[in-house]
Amino acid sequence: MLTNKPKTRILVDGGDPNETRRIKDLLGFVDGQTTNPSLIAKNPEIRHLLDSGQVLSAEQEKDEYRKIVRTISPMVGDAGVSIEVFADFNTTAQQMLSQGEEMFSWIPNAYIKYPCTHEGLRAAQMSVERGIRVNITLCFSQSQAAAVYTATRESKHPVYVSPFVGRLDDRGENGMNLIENIKKMYASGDGHVYILAASIRNLDHLFYSFALGVELVTVPTKVLENWAAQNFPMPASNFSYKPVSSTGAALKSIPYETMDLSRSWESFDISHELTTRGIEKFVADYQSTLRAA
Ligand code: E4P
Repeated sequence: MLTNKPKTRILVDGGDPNETRRIKDLLGFVDGQTTNPSLIAKNPEIRHLLDSGQVLSAEQEKDEYRKIVRTISPMVGDAGVSIEVFADFNTTAQQMLSQGEEMFSWIPNAYIKYPCTHEGLRAAQMSVERGIRVNITLCFSQSQAAAVYTATRESKHPVYVSPFVGRLDDRGENGMNLIENIKKMYASGDGHVYILAASIRNLDHLFYSFALGVELVTVPTKVLENWAAQNFPMPASNFSYKPVSSTGAALKSIPYETMDLSRSWESFDISHELTTRGIEKFVADYQSTLRAA
């Protein structure tokens, strides 16, 4: 059990309720859960259906997704369950919002995940006006995080922004720098956006998220199990993060930029190559659950 609970809330990054249960037994609690189309496609029950030759319709896929989040929902704390809308490059804000409204009604503690694109932010803006809690995913730059802040200014609930650390590391950039930069930028804001460190690949990412005091971190089961196996060490007060890749190569720094959070969200550059690639990957994984393997 984790006796020394950090201030940072810990979410499970996955799509299998059995994993969530296992982690809850190990830690003694789970603050929340994030899901995405790639994780849902890997859910053992969905794999079983596909492997037995079933072809899922879009409606059946949605039913399965709902079943999964309904099982997870009561197991987690107040950081909630993030459910991702289906969005490709043709999905309009209105279409994302309609899905978000429906998914928000599935469970009492839902956060709706929209991609950090123009249409995704429009959908998020309309959602917060309707009291829907949101999590903006696939965030890879400080200007995208600035746009999230300004687009959701009216939210009555905390808004989550999910910067993807590991995917930046994967292309040789120091993903944890993005977390530092957003945190520094938000320090002058009103506190309505919480940083949810995502795409966590190892214990150093987790420890540095704790050391930085980010509000939330979503962590794959494998990393949490590794932490538990070592009896939950915590970063020392002088913890120093080493920005190196999994192969030990030095990661390139991402410099801080001064940004004016009173600007309109549409004036920020919200395009990022990794957001585009992320959408392509989620669409491919979503579609893979709709056909027999
Ligand atoms: C969580 O919300 C994200 O979808 C997830 O952390 C992405 O992780 P990955 O980069 O390992 O796919």
